[in-house]
Amino acid sequence: MVRSTQVIAALALLAAAPLPAAAPLMAAAPLLAQANARHLGVASCSSSVCHGAVSPSNTYDVQLNEYVTWSHEDSHSKAYTALNSPRSRSIAAKLGIANPAAARLCLDCHTDNVAPERRGPKFSVSDGVGCEACHGGAEHWIATHTSRRATYRENVAQGMYPSANIRERATLCLSCHYGTGDKFATHRIMAAGHPRLSFELDTFLAIEPAHYRVGADYQRRKPSYSRTQTWAYGQLAAALAELEALQGPRINNSATFPELALFNCYACHMSSMHRYDWSHRLLTLAVEPGSVPINDGHLRMTWLIARRLDPPSAPTVLKLSQALLAAGPGGRAQIAARSRDLALLVGKLRDRAATFEWSHTDQQQLLNMLVSLGVEGEFHDYIGAEQAVMAIDGLLIDLGMSREHRTRLDGLYKLVRNDEAYTPESFVTALRELQSALDRASSSRTSG
Ligand code: HEC
Ligand code: HEC
Ligand code: HEC
Ligand code: HEC
Repeated sequence: MVRSTQVIAALALLAAAPLPAAAPLMAAAPLLAQANARHLGVASCSSSVCHGAVSPSNTYDVQLNEYVTWSHEDSHSKAYTALNSPRSRSIAAKLGIANPAAARLCLDCHTDNVAPERRGPKFSVSDGVGCEACHGGAEHWIATHTSRRATYRENVAQGMYPSANIRERATLCLSCHYGTGDKFATHRIMAAGHPRLSFELDTFLAIEPAHYRVGADYQRRKPSYSRTQTWAYGQLAAALAELEALQGPRINNSATFPELALFNCYACHMSSMHRYDWSHRLLTLAVEPGSVPINDGHLRMTWLIARRLDPPSAPTVLKLSQALLAAGPGGRAQIAARSRDLALLVGKLRDRAATFEWSHTDQQQLLNMLVSLGVEGEFHDYIGAEQAVMAIDGLLIDLGMSREHRTRLDGLYKLVRNDEAYTPESFVTALRELQSALDRASSSRTSG
């Protein structure tokens, strides 16, 4: 499936040039901004003269209809209600939980579950993932942030969570959409009926949907990022979150199997004993047939991103990823050790990605790599396909090409909409068609 010449060429490139040392892996500090202040509740933000305007404001910098967007269009506002649904009750029953809407296990991700002493009089757990679950407890900034002179930096100094910074934003979203040491959607929860978690920062920010407008005014006040930058940073941060989990107690437990949610769901849930089509791909080149592969959705993107972000380090990323994926038979200590090696390098790449400006050529190259690796089968499993489609979407948008390829993109999304109906063959065929269309477009551009 994978051309071995390409692999050898990739490995033969020069060894990594030194990148500066990485910042601490899990950015623990920023979430501390939320740690002391009281959370006042959505009712403290939602008045019609504050963030509850019916339509976006033209008078002020911010839109002021954030509450309406959140409550009507953003599923975070329903995250608590979802715990009372028949599905949640059925999950809870299988887990031996009497009431999911009162269980910490569920509330930690489905609400702004701060300690009781940090809840103000208007705070309500039924708000679900409310404003302060993302923006931090408002006790110390509620009064001053309304002054148009208060800068973003000043608000943050008062305890507002710095969600405009890509580092803290990724940490925030991943804390619930990937999980942390304290809260995690385990295989036990999923087998009881919880949906599988998958995440891609750029796409998820867009479909939430955004309740802010990133225009010239926003850019004067706050940092802003291209789709490619958000995607790349999000992939590296997610890869790191996983590499951390792979070094911790979820792997090093004494159970017969380690935490299965760290592995590729579809390896077990969609295999067939009558197909005989097990094969290698680039990242699994050193893997023995039949080993349980870890979930490498973000790692595949990490290598691809490294090839443009820091080309000298890419062969090492590939080699260490291959070693990690092949570590299973060597035991849990080896998975942890390989994860540690790779995390050191990915941490440095992630830090570089926070400020890296992706040029048009970079974006074009990333797109070409994604599509050609996809045609060769690197993303043929569902987890790979799903990540590849979201990546292609964001890159086409930044390249100003999403309109001309809209139908093909819609077709790709349709193929990955339902994991049970997904077939690798149709995905590879669709990518091949996209590849020809991209080739045609680029040759007509160069000849025209
Ligand atoms: C690590 C965080 C986390 C934990 C713990 C967690 N969830 Fe979730 N849950 C999520 C996320 C994130 C989603 C949205 C997944 C998506 O669509 O990408 C979700 C989705 C769901 C859904 C589907 C929502 C819908 O509107 O259809 C249900 C039901 C659900 N969770 C119930 C529960 C229950 C019950 C528990 C406790 C046993 C629980 N969750 C624990 C993060 C979590
Ligand atoms: C799931 C996380 C999340 C939730 C919930 C959330 N926000 Fe946001 N919000 C963001 C992100 C991310 C941004 C963009 C980065 C930034 O400007 O901080 C943002 C931006 C904003 C902005 C800045 C707009 C600007 O031009 O500077 C305002 C105001 C805002 N949100 C208000 C609210 C209010 C009010 C609520 C509750 C009704 C809310 N948010 C709920 C994540 C969230
Ligand atoms: C406190 C936990 C928490 C945080 C923080 C959080 N989310 Fe969520 N998110 C959830 C839960 C729970 C759901 C599922 C809600 C439901 O459907 O009932 C969800 C749902 C979503 C969905 C809808 C997914 C779907 O399948 O329709 C998107 C998009 C999303 N979140 C994006 C984000 C982004 C972007 C951020 C960071 C800015 C973020 N979330 C931060 C808990 C969280
Ligand atoms: C190493 C193999 C393996 C991996 C990897 C794995 N599972 Fe499972 N899963 C199982 C087994 C075994 C069962 C129990 C089947 C039974 O009880 O008959 C199960 C049960 C389930 C069930 C209950 C439905 C059923 O088939 O019984 C769901 C849902 C599920 N897993 C989801 C997931 C998700 C989501 C992931 C990835 C995050 C995942 N699994 C990863 C092996 C695996």
